This record gives sequence, C-alpha cells and structure tokens, in this order.
Amino acid sequence: MASIVPPVSEQLPIAVLVSGTGTNLQALLDTVHEHEARVVAVASSVADAPALARAAERGVPTAVFRRSEYADRNARDDAMADWLVQCGVRLVVLAGYMELLSEGFLGRFSSAVINVHPSLLPAFPGLEAIEQALRYGVKVFGVSVHFVDAGVDSGPVILQRAVELPDAREPGEVLRALRPLEHALLPEAVRLFARGALSADPSNPRRIVIAG
Ligand code: GRF
Repeated sequence: MASIVPPVSEQLPIAVLVSGTGTNLQALLDTVHEHEARVVAVASSVADAPALARAAERGVPTAVFRRSEYADRNARDDAMADWLVQCGVRLVVLAGYMELLSEGFLGRFSSAVINVHPSLLPAFPGLEAIEQALRYGVKVFGVSVHFVDAGVDSGPVILQRAVELPDAREPGEVLRALRPLEHALLPEAVRLFARGALSADPSNPRRIVIAG
C-alpha cells in the first residue's frame, strides 16, 4: 500500500500554525524538532500569540498572517502558503490554529495538513469541544489527531486516545487531563508521517493505516 508521503532520509521540514498559547508547539519543539522533523516555520493568525515567543526562543522563523491585513481569507491563505513553500515545508501541523484553511491552501499541501482536536471525533467538532462534551454529559473524553480536509474537523483520523472522567464538571479539569494526551499524540503523528508510515486503506480511504 502506498504511503501518503514517501519517507525522507533527513529531518522532515514542518510548519506549525498557531493562534494562541502554543503548548502543542512546545511539545513538538521538545520532542520531534531536530530529530525526526525540523520546525522550519511558525505562522500565527494572532500578532501577540504567546506561541510566537516559544518559536523565537528556539530560533524558528515566525510570521503573522492576520485576516484583517488581506482582502479576504483566500488572499491571506495564499500569502501564508507562499511563505511556507519558500521555507520548504512538507507537512503543516495545526496546533491551536483557530481558523479554517482555504481549499487553495489545502490543495498546495495535499494530504499533508494535520490537526489536533480535543475530542473523540466525530463527536464535538469545531469550537469549544470540551464545553460541548460537558454539556452533552459524556463520561469519556479524548483527543484526536486527524488529516485536515475542507470541512470542520472532518478529515480522516490518524490517532485517538480517550480518558475516563465520569465526574468532570469544569472545562479546566478536562483540559488538564487532555493536555498530556495532546502533547503525546501530536508528536507521535508527526513521527509516523515523517517515517512514511501512514497510508489510506484502499477499501476505505477514510481509514488511515499505520505501518508497524
Ligand atoms: C488545544 O486544545 C488543541 O487541541 C486545540 O487548541 C488548543 C491549543 O492549545 N485545537 P495550545 O495553543 O497548543 O496550547
């Protein structure tokens, strides 16, 4: 079965897209960066996102692409894609990036954009996933890492992990329980991608097969 990306012998050049705190970016910088992968670019939709300082501290080039500075979302995404292509990016990782990407952007990084989401998809896509799950009254929460398509958190799932929190009431306590899962799963997905270990099941392309 053909893998989604051919394995590269050197470190896979990746970009991380952020909008906020950047703890998932930090997890990538602390694990796969300069090992299986190299974070060559960090792009933010928010000018003062704390994630930018985390990148700068490791000497990773950063840029801000604010929606308000472009005619429309497509123009912003085109400019961001241009920069990432110039940086030689082979995989785009969304780590708390709070915007949808245009189809034009996704077309330029076909099957090479992944996202971390704090729910067990397909449950609770979109904003405030943890709040949605609490309102629903679930007993099991979790994290998904998935390929990004044109929909909202609707692309094929790469990795998922669950945690039982039958008594949870507050978003903060759920977030604290999910953080370590996110910080383990996102780097693991990058490692698998870099190894060329991910492929789509020919009989069900939504099912991502992980080579042993
Ligand atoms: C994470 O919970 C992630 O799942 C969601 O946004 C949050 C980003 O957190 N998509 P951080 O900026 O990486 O700390």
